[in-house]
Amino acid sequence: MLVGTKKLAEWREIFHDHMQSMDHAFDSAHKIDHVTRVTNTALQLAEMEGAKLEIVLPAVMLHDSLPIDKFASSTKNSIYISTENSLNLLKSWGYPQELFLSIEHAILAHSFSANITPQTLEAKVVQDADRLDALGAIGIARTLAVGFKQGNPLYNKDEPFPINRDANDRDNILDHFYVKLLRLPALLHTKAAKMEADARIKTMEIFLRDLAREIGAEFL
Ligand SMILES: [Fe+2]
Ligand SMILES: [Fe+2]
Repeated sequence: MLVGTKKLAEWREIFHDHMQSMDHAFDSAHKIDHVTRVTNTALQLAEMEGAKLEIVLPAVMLHDSLPIDKFASSTKNSIYISTENSLNLLKSWGYPQELFLSIEHAILAHSFSANITPQTLEAKVVQDADRLDALGAIGIARTLAVGFKQGNPLYNKDEPFPINRDANDRDNILDHFYVKLLRLPALLHTKAAKMEADARIKTMEIFLRDLAREIGAEFL
């Protein structure tokens, strides 16, 4: 498939090489392996749903072209800065500009904190693919990696599971499951992503249940 002057596979290489060169700047949950997994998932979803690959591919591969500090106050703005950077890159590589508006929307809408409803199938696919990577075994691993890096404890020592207290993921890692992760499946758009999310949630439930048993905590 030709997009502008190049085949889609050639574009994929250009995007990959760029993100690989930026890898040092990203936290352990957003390194090139995240980009690769989300890209593979998005391409699968796109095929099943009939989304346009020439929009999905650049959007998904450059969906975080600049690192976003999740706990910085400027998170909301940083997705706009990152998206602008992605479009500038595409422009510099000569990607067809008539696709930019759709790509821009798909990148902006992937962001959880931006809270933008995806209006196109392509934006839905990119958002779903990115959110799936926060679920399942990989979701658990990424959550632990980021949480420990921030110096947070695994759980609240007085009440490990947020049963009689509000969940607060700035205070401990486990609460991130309740603040965000377990809520993601309800926010997915495509049928294929919802099915995959079911399997991934089961993995997370086993983890949480076993964790509760091992630390002798009441399970939520
Ligand atoms: Fe992101
Ligand atoms: Fe992402």
